[in-house]
Amino acid sequence: MLIGEGPGGDEDRLGRPFVGRSGQLLTGMLESIGLSRQQVYIANVVKCRPPGNRTPTPDEAQACLPFLRRQVALVRPKIILLLGSTAARYTIGGDVRIRRDHGTWTYRAGVWMMPTYHPSALLRDPPRKLEAWQDLQALAEKMKELELC
Ligand code: URA
Repeated sequence: MLIGEGPGGDEDRLGRPFVGRSGQLLTGMLESIGLSRQQVYIANVVKCRPPGNRTPTPDEAQACLPFLRRQVALVRPKIILLLGSTAARYTIGGDVRIRRDHGTWTYRAGVWMMPTYHPSALLRDPPRKLEAWQDLQALAEKMKELELC
């Protein structure tokens, strides 16, 4: 399972996660470790885009978290890849900083969780792609370890 921040304009219009430019990059990132979009379930912290594309406020995130929790309960993932700091903060909790904490595993309630860079951040700052690629290699290793592939 993957968790992003919230739908952008394209996603709001189409009702599907990660279909815009960052979605294309995400598809490539998944493909780099042999995963197709069909093999993963993608959810977002907030279910509609806050005005002006800003980061969701804590109130907005809290209002949507029951839906995300239900998605996780239904999907019952073994691994969750957290795309960006909003996803990491509202799942792992605490003061997650992606530059510092990306690639580190947290195991809770039977689920392995790892934060990595949000694809939009990688579009803005392409040199970070190397670190994100290393995180994806760690994800592929974890999937092997858990015999998910
Ligand atoms: N960014 C997100 O965090 N989620 C999407 O679904 C699209 C862009």
